[in-house]
Amino acid sequence: MLKINDINVYYGNIHALKGVSLEINQGEIVTLIGANGAGKSTLLKTISGLLKPKNGEILFENEQVAGKVAQSIVKRGISQVPEGRRVFSNMSVEENLELGAYLRKDKKGIKEDFEKVYQLFPRLEERRKQQSGTLSGGEQQMLAMGRALMARPRLLLLDEPSMGLAPLLVKTIFRIIEEINQTGTTILLVEQNANMALSIADRAYVIETGKIVAAGTAAELSQSDQIRAAYLGGH
Ligand SMILES: Nc1ncnc2c1ncn2[C@@H]1O[C@H](COP(=O)(O)OP(=O)(O)O)[C@@H](O)[C@H]1O
Ligand SMILES: [Mg+2]
Repeated sequence: MLKINDINVYYGNIHALKGVSLEINQGEIVTLIGANGAGKSTLLKTISGLLKPKNGEILFENEQVAGKVAQSIVKRGISQVPEGRRVFSNMSVEENLELGAYLRKDKKGIKEDFEKVYQLFPRLEERRKQQSGTLSGGEQQMLAMGRALMARPRLLLLDEPSMGLAPLLVKTIFRIIEEINQTGTTILLVEQNANMALSIADRAYVIETGKIVAAGTAAELSQSDQIRAAYLGGH
């Protein structure tokens, strides 16, 4: 579904992604794990068109999307849930969700997706008139995910959805990610919580200072001594 070939991304002189290649098959949950500053968000932003690679290819369903504007990438079926949620705090839950569908014209489909999102996140339905800035961190994460789903993506990019959440909520969010995947959405999940991410992923990549240093099935990486020592608390 997505094939990234040897991309390089720079912030001025900073070489943030160094020859990164990665593949995602339709239906998979793929996780990208790595320490703070490794280049995870940079990779997601490059896929979603917020950053442009200096060279290399990003093929989505065999079409080149590298360097295309973000809006056209959303239209093709890729949505991103940004790190730190970034909901519009002065707007209600419902208005934030409406914004997620702003490129769509199919009123009936939008209405169906509102119902789907409220089924997935009953908490959001209860709070649909509430100003988003007054939601808890977990609820804002749900809203950011719901908003991305309102674009009806076929590939969903999640940037550290568990960041700053209490353990019980982390479990809930991961369960919902699996549910979203089971309804047919392919997922690229960026996480520092490698244990949780590997527990739901089919395959994983490890990124260190802008380079992919390991790749394999989630089971393989969970059993690697090196990965355990560096990312899984050595257990
Ligand atoms: N806007 C920016 N300007 C300059 N450097 C940046 C910018 N954003 C990120 N970087 C740098 O690029 C590298 C990768 O950052 P990032 O992709 O945010 O890492 P991660 O998401 O894995 O924590 C880091 O060295 C970071 O300091
Ligand atoms: Mg990041």
